[in-house]
Amino acid sequence: MKAVSEKPVLVTGGAGFIGSNLADRLASQGRKVRIFDALSRAGVEQNLEWLTQRHGDLIEIEIADLRDEQRLRSAIRGSDGIFHFAAQVAVTTSMTDPVLDFEVNVASTFRLLEAVRELTPQAPVIFASTNKVYGDLEDVTFQTTDRGCRPASAELARNGVSESQPLDFHTPYGCSKGAADQYVLDYARSYGVKAAVLRMSCIYGQRQLGTEDQGWVAHFLIRALNGETITLFGDGEQVRDVCDVADTCDAYLAVFDNIDAISGRAFNWGGGPDNAISLLSLLEEIGTITGHMPKIEFAASRPGDQRWFVADTSAADRALGLAPRKPWQQGVRDLAHWLMENRNLTQGERVDAARQVATL
Ligand SMILES: NC(=O)c1ccc[n+]([C@@H]2O[C@H](COP(=O)([O-])OP(=O)(O)OC[C@H]3O[C@@H](n4cnc5c(N)ncnc54)[C@H](O)[C@@H]3O)[C@@H](O)[C@H]2O)c1
Repeated sequence: MKAVSEKPVLVTGGAGFIGSNLADRLASQGRKVRIFDALSRAGVEQNLEWLTQRHGDLIEIEIADLRDEQRLRSAIRGSDGIFHFAAQVAVTTSMTDPVLDFEVNVASTFRLLEAVRELTPQAPVIFASTNKVYGDLEDVTFQTTDRGCRPASAELARNGVSESQPLDFHTPYGCSKGAADQYVLDYARSYGVKAAVLRMSCIYGQRQLGTEDQGWVAHFLIRALNGETITLFGDGEQVRDVCDVADTCDAYLAVFDNIDAISGRAFNWGGGPDNAISLLSLLEEIGTITGHMPKIEFAASRPGDQRWFVADTSAADRALGLAPRKPWQQGVRDLAHWLMENRNLTQGERVDAARQVATL
């Protein structure tokens, strides 16, 4: 771990799911954390209250929009490093408002990099990218098995998708995150900015206020615990590798601590093949946790919804010396517990503990 600096670490999107978990970990190391967030995600102000209660003056809060260049520049000035999480996060919103998606995800990331180059050239920039930069893996043949969609290639199914997979941006969100990912890497190459990228699969865990548009593991649990119907877009056989947010914070902190050795690199990040699950398997697991299968209905599949994506995280594991991930069944159970204990956070929806949860 780096010696703790007097300068704050900037976490854009620090009120959000991954950002607030990381801010908590940084402050727990005694670091000052400057959070920059527009509170665009409903309910995230409660994550800020939690952080302030836990860490007091170590948490500095800037409520501002990434598109406000002056506010962004002043937040960057004097910072010890930047974790860039704030984003337009939903594929669905990117389809209906591609201009917003571009301005928040591409133009603001570009301005952030320019400000770092000018104001804090030694501060590492760590960017939260996405597996969507690899598109729908159209060169891969898939088959449906009793555990959901799988690639026909046993090797690919065993290892997952590595960083050698060609980039193939689909949907405005895929394009905007992919363009930002490439700008971040190029600022390391062209200008010597210390920068690295994690291309994440599906992250879940405490403080995730999942909705139908983003954060499906928490969204399924919230609706199931509330006794509400879950809409499955597509056949539910889609497979993703899911990763607990605590493991994900370990990865981000390791990137920060090892930035001199890994600057300029992008790593695929997620739960990996051991934590690859179909949507239907998650619903079955939720059924086991709560004692009854959630109510579901089917709807047409959505643009940009990959049939299968599982990250090969071996490059990250090797470069960052990371421990194996928490098994997904345990993680989902932990999240169910957390949602039960914090039901006031899930946008006012009521969870009747006695009625819904049989075997937590
Ligand atoms: N959660 C995942 O599974 C996942 C997977 C791949 C990539 N990502 C990326 O990780 C990052 C964090 O995702 P998350 O799941 O924590 O999402 P989140 O929505 O919980 O957090 C994003 C935060 O950014 C803030 N924000 C949004 N637009 C903003 C703007 N214009 N200016 C300032 N703040 C703004 C929101 O208020 C929110 O607090 C995002 O960049 C997302 O694209 C997440």
